[in-house]
Amino acid sequence: MATSFLQKYQLQNHQLLLPKKQCVTYALYALIALAFLHYLLFYPASASGKSVVVAQVQEQVAAVASARVDAREQLLPPAPPPPFNQGDEALRNPQAKEEVPAPPPCDYSDGEWVPDARPPLYNGTSCGTIKDGQNCMAHGRPDTGYLYWRWRPRRCELPPFSPEALLRWLRNKHLGFVGDSLARNQAESLLCLLASRSAPELVHRDGEGNASRRFVFREFNATVSVFWSPFLVKVIEKSEHAGVGARRHNNVFLDAFDERWMSQLGDLDAAVLSVGHWFLIPGVYHDAGKVVACHGCEELNHTETDFFGVFKDAIHRTLAEVIRRQQHGHGEKKKKEKVVAVTTFSPAHFEGDWDKAGACPKKRPYRNGEKGLGYTESEMRKTVVEAVRAAGEAAGSGLRFVALDVTNLANLRPDGHPGPYMSKDPFAGGEAGERRVQNDCVHWCMPGPVDTFNEILLQTILR
Ligand SMILES: *[C@@H]1O[C@H](CO)[C@@H](O)[C@H](O)[C@H]1NC(C)=O
Ligand SMILES: *[C@@H]1O[C@H](CO)[C@@H](O)[C@H](O)[C@H]1NC(C)=O
Ligand SMILES: *[C@@H]1O[C@H](CO)[C@@H](O)[C@H](O)[C@H]1NC(C)=O
Ligand SMILES: *[C@@H]1O[C@H](CO)[C@@H](O)[C@H](O)[C@H]1NC(C)=O
Repeated sequence: MATSFLQKYQLQNHQLLLPKKQCVTYALYALIALAFLHYLLFYPASASGKSVVVAQVQEQVAAVASARVDAREQLLPPAPPPPFNQGDEALRNPQAKEEVPAPPPCDYSDGEWVPDARPPLYNGTSCGTIKDGQNCMAHGRPDTGYLYWRWRPRRCELPPFSPEALLRWLRNKHLGFVGDSLARNQAESLLCLLASRSAPELVHRDGEGNASRRFVFREFNATVSVFWSPFLVKVIEKSEHAGVGARRHNNVFLDAFDERWMSQLGDLDAAVLSVGHWFLIPGVYHDAGKVVACHGCEELNHTETDFFGVFKDAIHRTLAEVIRRQQHGHGEKKKKEKVVAVTTFSPAHFEGDWDKAGACPKKRPYRNGEKGLGYTESEMRKTVVEAVRAAGEAAGSGLRFVALDVTNLANLRPDGHPGPYMSKDPFAGGEAGERRVQNDCVHWCMPGPVDTFNEILLQTILR
């Protein structure tokens, strides 16, 4: 199935005369075996559901086993450097620099990873909120070099994370993460970083598999929530289980908001939105009662489209609704001032078969310029940066939008994923490298590079 999907997809791409780069990136994502990608991205696979999905995935993988991707062939020429934002404008205008004593805002997206001997603020046992699949330390990942790097922006300093500073800001406030499993990954990183100063208490959970949770740091009356919403807009998720009548596609409703989090917006002082990867797996997109786009759904007789348009639509509509509710919504309640950060696309690093030991085998970051962004990553990033800029112009007072532009720095960290250490002691019962093991080259080990996302978040919030 995966093979025919791939062939058909490439055929369609050629017929549509899409740029060659685009084909290559699509093909890469198709080869990851979409079912497995879905399994990875689905938040809380229950024990039984997991084995069913794994069995399906194994079948599909048998079909693509011969089609190895050599990632080096997939490397694309480096994308042009991202445009500098506010920081650059301030630099070009020396007067602004003289009049305003505060340092100009920094462009954290441009920089390099440099060695740093300081240990992380937490480890695999000191933090109780790491999701099992990302606890690389506890799962026996033998190398530790990936822990000793720090992101150094080109034109300014990124201070180390200060739990004290964020907790002080968050006193009597509420910060919510909204999105998919990468949003959760970032939220759990933040919880672990903060837990090194003050212990969080889980006070609420709901949703399928307890995917939405709320924690309070009592000492500061500071609240951190995680809301599950992989498209930001409304979705009827694809079924986890095979069988008659199973939904094989996500059905996404671009004209309906996901009230699981939108209804809580009035309570939030800061929101971090993070979505993207779910747009790459099969989905049918609806607007005003019509199907407007369909991705990876050849058997449904809808015209195949790419996912860039609907991603853009979902982001723009969501941010516009955030502005609308800030201006008109929430009844008589006094509106809270708000920071809305949107995390840009976080690249995956599959280099070969996802069920071989070496799916993301690198042990050190890429050097600056050693690996450019792929077409998909670059487009997804650009969409968020542009949507945030547009929303910032449209927003009235009391609402601040920022892009957490992590795509480039994350792209340079092939060494930061769990790989086989998404489960405990993956090579316990066999020859390393011979047995089939599942690899997670999408999410991030904790501690790991995702902690840097939160260093940038802290500076962004405090600004
Ligand atoms: C993890 O951190 C805790 C608390 O700081 C410490 O007691 C423990 O020894 C650390 N474990 C490892 C494996 O470093
Ligand atoms: C605690 O924080 C919440 C916001 O999360 C706020 O509504 C509440 O008033 C705070 N409680 C006190 C005692 O300040
Ligand atoms: C949700 O959390 C509760 C309390 O820990 C637990 O009993 C329940 O099994 C969880 N539900 C799922 C689906 O994980
Ligand atoms: C797709 O179209 C074919 C031919 O018109 C038809 O036989 C089939 O039932 C359609 N499938 C769906 C899911 O509508």
